This record gives sequence, structure tokens and C-alpha cells, in this order.
Amino acid sequence: MAETHVTMDKIVSLCRRRGFVFPSSEIYGGLGSTYDYGHYGVLMKNHIRSWWLRAMVQERDDIVAIDSAVILNPAVWEASGHVAGFSDPLIDCRTCKLRFRADRLEDAQCGRKPSKRPGEHSECDLTAPRQFNLMFETRVGAMEDASSTAYLRPETAQGIFINFKNVLQLARRKPPFGIAQIGKSFRNEITPGNFLFRVREFEQMEMEFFVPPDEAETWYRYWIEQRLNWYLSLGLRESMLRVREHAAAERSHYSSGTSDIEYLYPIGWQELEGVANRGDFDLTQHTKSSGTKLEFVGQEGERYTPYVIEPAVSIERIFVAMLCDAYDEEVVGERERTVLRLHPLVAPVKAAVLPLIPRDEGIASRARALFEQLRKRHTVEYDDSGQIGRRYRRQDEIGTPWAFTADEQTLEDETVTVRDRDSLAQERLPIAEVASWLDAALERPWRSPKP
Ligand code: GAP
Repeated sequence: MAETHVTMDKIVSLCRRRGFVFPSSEIYGGLGSTYDYGHYGVLMKNHIRSWWLRAMVQERDDIVAIDSAVILNPAVWEASGHVAGFSDPLIDCRTCKLRFRADRLEDAQCGRKPSKRPGEHSECDLTAPRQFNLMFETRVGAMEDASSTAYLRPETAQGIFINFKNVLQLARRKPPFGIAQIGKSFRNEITPGNFLFRVREFEQMEMEFFVPPDEAETWYRYWIEQRLNWYLSLGLRESMLRVREHAAAERSHYSSGTSDIEYLYPIGWQELEGVANRGDFDLTQHTKSSGTKLEFVGQEGERYTPYVIEPAVSIERIFVAMLCDAYDEEVVGERERTVLRLHPLVAPVKAAVLPLIPRDEGIASRARALFEQLRKRHTVEYDDSGQIGRRYRRQDEIGTPWAFTADEQTLEDETVTVRDRDSLAQERLPIAEVASWLDAALERPWRSPKP
């Protein structure tokens, strides 16, 4: 079995230290399990987003994109089953006032004695479980009555289903075809935690793939494989990933087959992404509730309600998995270094340009010119503050794959050194060739050097 030696605390501390992610509303004491992304976090999330869009939309003929509203007609959530059934069993402790998920008590800690589970301490006074709906309610307009109640979407998927007819007609598609969406979703989780793994506000990347019913099983298997390969192509180690098929009792109300792509997080094997065969549940429900027929009618008049295969994931879960997979500590010479061995395609910064002696005008001007050239095509960083060793370590910690350093020799022969983050190997390159060298390096396949 694969092992992980990284702790979530180390990831949290690096994210904070290097400005990837920090607690939200901090100057007001924070808001439990809510986070803000800093510069490098934003850059890395953008890379993840764009590689997903590229694999899902840009490189395919059969998937189109959509961006639906966060607040939908509340009837959508009645029809989807979320109003009645999107809930977790909740238990309160009258003594310590903490709340627990009744189905996760074995993972929870008693408020009086953390070494015990809720209910095990003599002073525990637990209520009976009651269902707690995870949707955030809000109001639309100035009225304060029940007719104004609406919800922040708990998944992006429903915004896709209710646009099925639009896409069918306007994008002139026929099954099999898919609709992909990236956007914020909101869930009032009872027990958020483990950093970004379970949060109340997260960004989902979901794709609903509409297929003829008799092809559903084949496409379900196809998408499990595609998604697994996507993670491998972005550098996650194979030994840290596995596919786990849900038992019937575990599946959501809409699903006739679900598999989780799991990652070995520091908290154990956990769902990274879910791939579900949703059958015709959603289109049938919205047809019944809205009165609009959501079906496919072929040129020969054949008609059917397509089945839906859905790969669904949040950027947060990918972000944490990639950071955990990349985190490494090693001793180089006498010194310890922390390094993020991220796939170059998702690393926030692709290259750093460093003038060895910043006050030397000849070196600095050449480094600056190289930086200006590279930044037109990639996210690159110019760093001229502090000793060169410290500058390298800063870049290692944010996962920058390559550093180009201009030094005294640059003045003689117009070359710079390129330092590789993972191997620490250095070679010299003519400045004029650096841009094409970097382009080619980003095209090369990359494998994690971690075991
Ligand atoms: N449309 C189907 C759906 O939403 P889900 O399993 O509830 O299914 C899909 O969520 C994905 O969204 C999960 O695999 C996970 O990656 C992510 N996700 C769900 N809840 C989350 C949370 N509270 N925090 C971060 N990510 C979450």
C-alpha cells in the first residue's frame, strides 16, 4: 500500500508562509474553514482550471461549455431532490454545544475530552439525529416571505440539466455530447475541515455527458479511465491514486453507478473526484416539474431521454492533492530545503529570472530583458532580493521548475545558467535560446521524482 509522509499541517503552513492560501476574514477572527487564495494560489488554480477546460472542451468535438447562474429558480432544487433529500444526519451535544454528523461519529472528538468520541464521556448529552439540509438559503428581492426563498447552488450540475434544450438546439448537438461547467458551489457542511478538503464554498468542475441509454455503461467506464489519465498526465503519482466503486447502499439517490477516484491524502484515501452514471433521473425530473420535454428527437423521429455520465470534482480537492503529492523535504549539502515538485504545467510560476549581482547594471539589464521577453508567454518571476541561495529556496518552495541566472559570465558570452528544481542540475544556455528552451521544456513529459 502507498504511504504518505506529508502532514496536512505542513501543507497548511507552506500555503500560508508562501501566500498560496490563508484563513479568510482573519482580522475579524476568521470564519471557520473558509479560506482566501493569495497570488500563487490564484495562479495555480488558474492552471488547474485551464488544463481541465482544455481536456474537456478545447481538445474535443463533443463537449461545449456553459456558465449558469448561482441562484436558480428554487423549483430546480425541488425537482432535483435537493430540497427533500440533500441533507446529513446531525447530532447536537447539549453539554459542549458542538455539532456532529451522526454517520461520522467515529471520526469526531468529544468537546470535553478529545481522546474520546462524542457520547463516550460521562457528561456527553447527545440529541437524537435529525436531518440537516446542506443548502444555504437566501432571499431574492425585497419580500421576506416564503415566496422569496432561494438557494445558493450546492452543485453546478443542475444549471447544466436545465439548459439541456438550449444546448441541443443552439449548439446543434446530438448524443453522445457533453456540457462542461466550472463555478462556485456552496454547502453548509456540518463538519468542514482538513484545510480545503471539505469547505463550505468551493469551485466545482463538472461535466454532464448525455448518451443513448444503451451506451451508458460503456461511457461510464470510458470517463473513469479518462479522468484517471488526466491526473496522471498532470503528475500525480499512480501509487497515490485508486478507483473505488460505490456499493449500491452508498450511492446518491440519482445514481445507478458511482466510482470515486481517490487520492491518498494525509487523512487517508479520500474522494478526489466522483464519476457517476445518473441515468435519466435529472432530465426526467425536470421534464415532469417544468413541463418542458428534455429529450432527444432524431431525424427519423426516434426519441429518448438520454442517460447522463458525470465526472465531478472541486478545484480545492485537486489543489490539495497536488500540493501533497509535490511536497518534499531534503538535505542539500548542509542545508535542508523544502521543495514543491509540482508538474511544470500546474506550477504557479514557470520560471524565475535572477540577476546574480543585482547592482551590476550589465547583469541586471540582461536579466530584466530576458524576464520581459518570457513574461509575454508564461507566468515568470523576477527576483533580485537577497542572497542567491535564498532566492533559489524561495522558488523551490513555490514549485518553480526552472531558474535562469545571469552572472559575470553573461557579460562575456551572453549566456545564463538554467537550474532545474528537481535535479538541481545546472547548464548554460545562450540568452537568445532561453525562450524556445522554456517552451520545449514545458512540452516535455514530466514524472515526479518522488518514490
Ligand atoms: N454533481 C454531483 C456532485 O456534486 P458530489 O460528490 O457531492 O457530487 C462532487 O461532489 C465533487 O465536488 C467531489 O468529488 C469533490 O471533489 C467536490 N466536493 C464536494 N463537496 C465538497 C466540499 N465540501 N469541499 C470541497 N470539495 C467538495
